[in-house]
Amino acid sequence: MKIGIHDLDIATTHYVLNLDSMAKALDIDPNKYHIGLGQDEFSVPAPDEDVVTMGAEAVARLLERHDKSKIRMVLFATETGIDQSKAAGVFVHGLLGLPQSVRTVEFKQACYSGTAAIQTAVNHVARYTDDQVLVIASDIARYAADSGGEPTQGAGAVAMLITANPALVEIEPDSGVFTADVNDFWRPNDSSTPFVEGKLSLDAYLDATIGAWDDLVSRRGVKIDDIHRFLHHQPFTKMARKAHTKLAEHVGVELGPELIEESMAYNRRLGNSYTASLYFGLVAQLHGNDDLAGKRLGLFSYGSGSVSEFFTAVVQPGYHDHIYPAHVADSLDRRVEVSFDEYRELHAAYNGASENYETEEVTQAPFRFAGVTDRVRQYETR
Ligand code: CAA
Repeated sequence: MKIGIHDLDIATTHYVLNLDSMAKALDIDPNKYHIGLGQDEFSVPAPDEDVVTMGAEAVARLLERHDKSKIRMVLFATETGIDQSKAAGVFVHGLLGLPQSVRTVEFKQACYSGTAAIQTAVNHVARYTDDQVLVIASDIARYAADSGGEPTQGAGAVAMLITANPALVEIEPDSGVFTADVNDFWRPNDSSTPFVEGKLSLDAYLDATIGAWDDLVSRRGVKIDDIHRFLHHQPFTKMARKAHTKLAEHVGVELGPELIEESMAYNRRLGNSYTASLYFGLVAQLHGNDDLAGKRLGLFSYGSGSVSEFFTAVVQPGYHDHIYPAHVADSLDRRVEVSFDEYRELHAAYNGASENYETEEVTQAPFRFAGVTDRVRQYETR
């Protein structure tokens, strides 16, 4: 029986910063961003947006097409958790009015945990074949001002429905996994921005690419030619190019840039969305090529720290009838552009405290974060 991603939808933030504005303000050659990092813009959250509001919007769009009574489990994957105890998915569950007979839990391992959630969902459906699992990957990549990571910020959410006989992609059994204890990127409990060893993070990512690939080959004997497109985690899209080059050197074959190009279209404009980034890559891949039916995708998921996975997915016949490029175009195009100074004001105004406060009403999205009352985060449906 085939199990995989039956349907998916996305959301991002109210604001966007064009990296030309950052280049001008910081007196940096814009080509460092456009060519050097492969990024053009990044999504910036309004004060009344967070991972719950983005995740809930993506789920609401997805569930317009499905019967929510079949959902048995909600897995929320994020690096940007909003509570140390309560799963962000429970807020989404409430906002969407999901059935109470649902297991809800949060997954964490930097940018990797969306993949762990998908594999958990696939395993659940293998045992309970009529069940559906909702996986939400939602993140806000927020680095310190003036740090190397600042131009690679971003935000977005992808909601995915995992079922038997999926309409989009079958997740194939046997993946390659790789864990290495490395301090390349981490965020202690008292910090709203990560600490990053930039050069180490690149090397750790590339080592993990090879480690996970080798494990995949040893588990299943996959050959590089069996894979028609490669989708690598995209903290910035140039990173996927580096991984592609490294993999080609490792296996000793030429892998043309066209094998990764289509997966980068959305992340160039969203910036890093951590757990959602690879899945925005998948959305872009499915939207960017109408000849993928029966083709195998190789997906590489990396989460600093580090845990990674190389797995394969086969695109299903008729997938064209189940994709919604207009939703992505709408989310990207409707964002309101901010100046560099406005972006820096929003960045500095971030409030992670749990004292009482109300947020200004800005977002036009269906759900908003209204502030905190008596230590409880308040969400509203608009
Ligand atoms: N024209 C064209 N290219 C230019 C240029 C110009 N004018 N100026 C610079 N460049 C190129 C550089 O040559 C370099 O390219 P290569 O890497 O191919 O050599 C590229 O632009 C970046 O330049 P620098 O290396 O000088 O950039 P930096 O040191 O300021 O920052 C970074 C790079 C360390 C990756 C930084 O963006 C960062 O810390 N990012 C956050 C960490 C990260 O994303 N790491 C990736 C792996 S970890 C991961 O994947 C998990 C995750 O999501 C965070």
